[in-house]
Amino acid sequence: MTDCPTSTLLFTGRETILNILEDYFITDMMSEDIGRRKLFLLHGLGGAGKTQCALEFARKFKKSFSDIYFITAESENSIKASYYDIAMRNGSIPAQGWESGFRWFKTHEANWLIIMDNADDPQLSLGRFLPSCDHGNIIITSRNPDLMQIAAKSEEIKDMEPDDATQLLLKHAIKNQVTAADETSAGIIAKELHYFALALVQAGAYINQHKCLNNYLDLLKSQQAELLRRDISQSLDNYTMSIYSTWNLSWNKLEKSSKALLNICAYLHYERIPYALFQRAIENIEDLEISESKNDAKKFLVMLATESMKWDIAKTNEIIHKIGSYSLLNVIQDGLFSFHPLVHKWMMAKMDINLKNEICLGVQGIVAASINGTKWNDIGFVRLLTPHCIALEKYYIGELHIRKSLGRLWLMGHYGTRALTYWKPLMEETKVSFGNDHSETLVCMGHLAMSYRNLGRYNEALELQKPLLEVSRQVMGEEHLETLTYTNNLAMTYSHLGRYNEALELQKPLLEVSKQVMGEEHPETLTRTNDLARTYSYLGRYNEALELRSPSLKFQSKSWEKSIHIH
Ligand SMILES: Nc1ncnc2c1ncn2[C@@H]1O[C@H](COP(=O)(O)OP(=O)(O)OP(=O)(O)O)[C@@H](O)[C@H]1O
Ligand SMILES: [Mg+2]
Repeated sequence: MTDCPTSTLLFTGRETILNILEDYFITDMMSEDIGRRKLFLLHGLGGAGKTQCALEFARKFKKSFSDIYFITAESENSIKASYYDIAMRNGSIPAQGWESGFRWFKTHEANWLIIMDNADDPQLSLGRFLPSCDHGNIIITSRNPDLMQIAAKSEEIKDMEPDDATQLLLKHAIKNQVTAADETSAGIIAKELHYFALALVQAGAYINQHKCLNNYLDLLKSQQAELLRRDISQSLDNYTMSIYSTWNLSWNKLEKSSKALLNICAYLHYERIPYALFQRAIENIEDLEISESKNDAKKFLVMLATESMKWDIAKTNEIIHKIGSYSLLNVIQDGLFSFHPLVHKWMMAKMDINLKNEICLGVQGIVAASINGTKWNDIGFVRLLTPHCIALEKYYIGELHIRKSLGRLWLMGHYGTRALTYWKPLMEETKVSFGNDHSETLVCMGHLAMSYRNLGRYNEALELQKPLLEVSRQVMGEEHLETLTYTNNLAMTYSHLGRYNEALELQKPLLEVSKQVMGEEHPETLTRTNDLARTYSYLGRYNEALELRSPSLKFQSKSWEKSIHIH
C-alpha cells in the first residue's frame, strides 16, 4: 500500500540521481548493506527538487516495495502526526499515540519505504524518529547537509541538466505545439536561471500566464528580483512559494550574525570567498584610516572576533555552518565558501534598503584592510581577492584610501589596465590636495609609473620615474629606502627600453648604497646585484657580470628568503 503523493505530472530529467537511488535500494542486492536498513539523504537548496526526486523514485519503483509511506518531517509534531495516521491506517489502535505507528515499522519485517520529507529544521533530532531495525528503506529530503551524519549514503540535488531544464521550462510555459525558436528562447532563459528547478517552474508559470516567452529574457534581466519574488498562483504539487519566499523562510531562522555575513557577501563575488579575507581584515582594521568604511567594517568584524579583536575561528565557523545548514552556502574546500548564483542575487535583492549604504561601506573597509595587510609577493591571496574586488567595484567607492588600497591590489596582481584607472586620477587628486613634493604624491606617482610599466608603456613610466627620483633624492635623501626603490625602478625601465648604459649608471651606485644601507646579504641587495650583472651581460661585458654573479650566488644559496619588491 502507499499513502505517498505522486511526483508532479511534469516531472523531468534527474536520470543520474534516479539511477543512484535505484542502484542503492533496488539493484544492489549483493552488497554488504543486505539485511540492514537502508537510509539515503537527498540534500540541497530549497526548491532544488529534492522532494520531487524522492517521489519520482517511489513512483517508478513502487512494485519493488511492500508499502510506501510519506512522512512530513518539518517538525516533531508533523512527524508524530504522520506516525499516528500510519498506525490508524494499519489498523493498530494508536493506544500509545504516534509510537504505535513508529513501532509498526520495527515489527513489520517487510521491504517498506519511508520518505521523510523536508527535514529542514537543524534543531530537529531526526534520528529519534527513524525506526531502528535491520529491515526497510528510508529516504530523507532536507536542506540540512548535517544529516549526512546519520545517513548511510547521500547526494546533493544541484541544478538540472541544461536540456532537462529547458524541457521543464517549456512544459510549464507552452501547452501546445513547441517550435524550434521556442526551444532556443527557453534554452537561453533556463541558462539565465542557472537551471534551477523552482526558478524554471516559476518562470514557466509566468510565461504561460502572460504569453511572453520572447520578452521574458529582457524582463528577467531588468526585473529579476520582482519576478523571482512572485509566488505561484496555480501549482501542480502544492509548491506555491517563489524561490525568494522559500529562501526567506530560512533567512527568518538565522541569527543576526549570519544575516550580517550574508549581507556582506552580497557585495562580493559569489564563488570562492576566503575566510582569510575576514581574518586579515580583523588583523589590520585598526591601521585603516579613520573613516566611515572603517567604522562600518568594525561593526561587522566584531562578530567574528574575540573581545581583544583577534580573529575567532570557532565563531566564524559556527556562523558559516549555520548558514550552510540551510544549504544557503557551501564550504567548497578548507578556507573557501561559495553561494549559488541565484541565492547570491537574492541576498542583494532582500537587503534592507536602509542598510545598503552602511554595508557597502563596511565591505569596502573589510577589503581594504585585508589588502593593506597583504605583502607584495603574496600573489596567492591577491588572486583570491581579485574577483571579489571586481564585484565590489560595481558600486560607488568614494573614500580616497579605499581607492588606494584597490589600486594597490591591481598593481600587486599585475593588472595594469585596472591599476591605471586608479592611479591616474589618484595622482592628480593627491597633487592638488598635498602638492607636488608631498610623500603621498610621490607614492601615487610611483604607482602610476608601475601601472604603465606593467602595461609595457615604458616611455610613459620613464616620464614619471625620472622626476620622481629627483624629488625623492631632494626630499628624502639619497640613501632613503624609498629613493633606492625609485632608483631601482627607473633602472629597470631603462633596461626594458634597451637603454642599458643609462640603467648601468643608476645600478652601480645603487648597489653600493644598498650594501651599506641594507647589508650584503639582504635579499634586495642580492636581487640588485643580479640586476646589475644582467645589465653587464646585455652590454657584452661578461667578465664584469661573472665577477658579480659568483659571490652573489654564494649568498643566495644561504638565503631562504626571496623577496620580490615592487614599489
Ligand atoms: N525534476 C523535476 N521535474 C519537474 N518539476 C520539478 C522537478 N524538480 C523540481 N520541480 C518543481 O520545483 C519545485 C520545487 O521542487 P521540490 O519540492 O522537489 O524542491 P525541494 O528541493 O524539495 O524544496 P524544499 O527544500 O523547499 O522542500 C516544485 O514545484 C516541483 O514541482
Ligand atoms: Mg522538499
